[in-house]
Amino acid sequence: MHYSEEFNVKKILVSRAVFPDVIERLKRHFDVETNQEDRRLTREELAVKLVDKDGMFVAGDRIDAEVLAAAPRLRVVANMAVGYNNFDIDAFNRASVLGTNTPDVLNETTADLGWALMMAAARRMSEGERFLRAGKWDRWAYDMLMGSDVYGSTLGVIGMGRIGQAVARRAKGFGMRVVYHNRSRVTAEIERELNAEYLDKEALLKEADHVVLVLPYTPSSHHTIGAAEFALMKRTATITNIARGGIIDDVALIEALRAHQIGAAGLDVFEGEPKLNPGFLDLPNVVLTPHIGSATEATRRAMANLTADNLIAGLGEGPQAGHPPTPINPEVMAHWSHG
Ligand code: GLV
Repeated sequence: MHYSEEFNVKKILVSRAVFPDVIERLKRHFDVETNQEDRRLTREELAVKLVDKDGMFVAGDRIDAEVLAAAPRLRVVANMAVGYNNFDIDAFNRASVLGTNTPDVLNETTADLGWALMMAAARRMSEGERFLRAGKWDRWAYDMLMGSDVYGSTLGVIGMGRIGQAVARRAKGFGMRVVYHNRSRVTAEIERELNAEYLDKEALLKEADHVVLVLPYTPSSHHTIGAAEFALMKRTATITNIARGGIIDDVALIEALRAHQIGAAGLDVFEGEPKLNPGFLDLPNVVLTPHIGSATEATRRAMANLTADNLIAGLGEGPQAGHPPTPINPEVMAHWSHG
């Protein structure tokens, strides 16, 4: 008889490579199947591996009704990301599977990248570096690589959740006016603390010098920004997306950048990533990063450990047994039979 059957040790799958010490933590509680070579598993491979698994540690893998149907024992799927648009939560609820994510631990790191992209776009840093590396810098010129000011300008944050608030908070040191748009207004206290003024989307797009997108991707946020929105923006404005591909219509953005309808863009996320529309590659006025919003060692470690905490507690192990710290749909746990 296999060890895990004999002692009723639960089985989990870790679908992507992750810090070895986090794998070791998981091994103290579970029979762990890992994918440390980090080869993206096909849906067929996933289905085979999930047949006998109780839990799963994932990073962006699409988990839907079809995957869940292949996993009769599965109770917890822990995502090493705050965004969970890779989960079909209705399917999770129907199957009584708990999903978890990693809120809060990445707020400041992701807000930092938003600012880095915004400032790099405003000050044409990638363009300047390419120019320099290509050996084209041979003299001073009064109008060389003139960008737009960040200090003293108007920041427009669309999506005023935890990361949006962290982006807005940084504006104080830059003497900026902060305007924001969100599905619902934040509390008066938060508005006061951030010195942030609520505007409808159209007014924000007209008034902001620098727009930063920090909203979750859902069917209703698909193409929040497209041709009609670029038409409202200032010709010098920048737009930064640290949220998800699909919130901006990339084809419309490429057109707006090409036509200088807006000044520049800073993008960490793309429709269809890791592929991206090749139109971006020829444009000088866009700064591109490969979805690294949360990528500092401290934050990625915090995310991996929070994902492990969720899996351990969700599967009834460890000191927080039965109380995963950051569940998405905790109500499903009431349907679990004990034992
Ligand atoms: C990264 O994109 C995340 O959602 O954590």
